[in-house]
Amino acid sequence: MSKAGEAEIGANSPHETHDHTAGAEKRVFIKTYGCQMNVYDSERMGALLAPLGYAATSQPEDADLVILNTCHIREKAAEKVYSELGRLKNIKASRAQTGKQTQIAVAGCVAQAEGPEIHARAPVVDIVVGPQAYHRLPEMIARAARQRGAVLETDFDVNEKFDALPKARTGDGPTAFLTIQEGCDKFCTFCVVPYTRGAEVSRHVDAITAEARMLVASGVREITLLGQNVNAWTSAPPAGEHAEAWGLGELCRHLAKIDGLERIRFTTSHPRDMDEGLIAALGDEPKLMPYLHLPVQAGSDKILKAMNRDHTAEHYIRLIERIRAARPDIALSGDFIVGFPGETDADFEDTMALVREVSYASAFSFKYSRRPGTPGAAMRAQVAEDIKTDRLARLQTLLEAQKQAFNRSLIGKTLPILIERAGRNEGQIAGRSPYLQSVHMDGPARLIGGIAQATIRDVTPNALTGVLVDALHEKGTA
Ligand code: 5AD
Ligand code: SF4
Repeated sequence: MSKAGEAEIGANSPHETHDHTAGAEKRVFIKTYGCQMNVYDSERMGALLAPLGYAATSQPEDADLVILNTCHIREKAAEKVYSELGRLKNIKASRAQTGKQTQIAVAGCVAQAEGPEIHARAPVVDIVVGPQAYHRLPEMIARAARQRGAVLETDFDVNEKFDALPKARTGDGPTAFLTIQEGCDKFCTFCVVPYTRGAEVSRHVDAITAEARMLVASGVREITLLGQNVNAWTSAPPAGEHAEAWGLGELCRHLAKIDGLERIRFTTSHPRDMDEGLIAALGDEPKLMPYLHLPVQAGSDKILKAMNRDHTAEHYIRLIERIRAARPDIALSGDFIVGFPGETDADFEDTMALVREVSYASAFSFKYSRRPGTPGAAMRAQVAEDIKTDRLARLQTLLEAQKQAFNRSLIGKTLPILIERAGRNEGQIAGRSPYLQSVHMDGPARLIGGIAQATIRDVTPNALTGVLVDALHEKGTA
């Protein structure tokens, strides 16, 4: 309790700035790397800093405070942060010449994983703040202004963070993310998440519902529920109800009752936690979109075991069959790793065979990246880089062909499109299909924020093009 209280300047009094910066407009530049949860967290950090007088800027040169919200999942993602810090060092120095101070904060999973090493490697950093300590940012900024050396906060207590962050939420457009669960207890042997994000923690259904209602009141029509292991979410039922603990299926049905909320999505799910309740909800709750990101990582049982995935290829394929039986049009998405230690050509062919059997609408695939501190990093039989490169190219060719085939299968179909924004050219609008594809079409800007029916006419490499059904009627070509 007392710790949470330290951050209450930002949390409870959004219109009072007790801080000495009151009135003096400051600017914060937040750069986000990695997953959607970081996007959500960056937005929350922005909301926390606004009452302290920080307005957002897209130019680091103008920023009094720069926050890099980082990702540690693969080596490349982590290294990008250090090259960005090199650039920021120059910006900080040139601002100092004109008498302006710049505070630099590293947030997110690199902060959690590397802690004090960050300051040692990049002394330009003033603040290192792990994902569970964002609510302490205001206090850390003040402390960093007073002391030399980096201020470090990487404590784990997710619920303290959620309790202390500002409650008010407005959406920025018709779609929004909402974090319902953080952390992971699965300990896949390649993955840093259980170390950087900590143990699985679920938010209570009442807190989630309140946040969802606020988003909908501000114009949000689609909410994507986020969690590292989102389908491991569980909570006591809403206050006053005496049911057993709820799972994600019940939560989705509950949120679906909110008037004005049209679409619900969730990500990322683990095959082990796909329970009957959630599969049934996918089948009969119309607000749940027919799209499921369900990573399998590999198709060889030997590799799945070495990855500690706790399921076989067969288990995954049967699960997909059950999901498709409940929701035949579901679009599937997955994550894949090639070149995990010990992966032979035959193991890789098992991955290719699984992909052919399942057929994905979209997918993310990566070369295995050796992460310090994970069991995989210490395994012998690491796979050579050129073999990883070849395997990734073959896998991506197959996945891309499946994606294009799925996109083309929609030509001629009429789909509800949530119109999110103006298109690139005058008179164009863009939105998303139920299957999460971008759809571009001619149409008036007044449709932004609502759902419009469009007939799909063509595909481009990364999107669909459509024609509004009303426009078709107007032209008499329907
Ligand atoms: N190397 C390569 N890919 C990884 N992922 C997680 N850890 C690693 C790693 N060490 C991938 C997994 C996961 C996705 C978010 O990132 O496929 O599902
Ligand atoms: Fe990482 Fe595995 Fe947890 Fe996903 S389930 S976050 S891959 S440890």
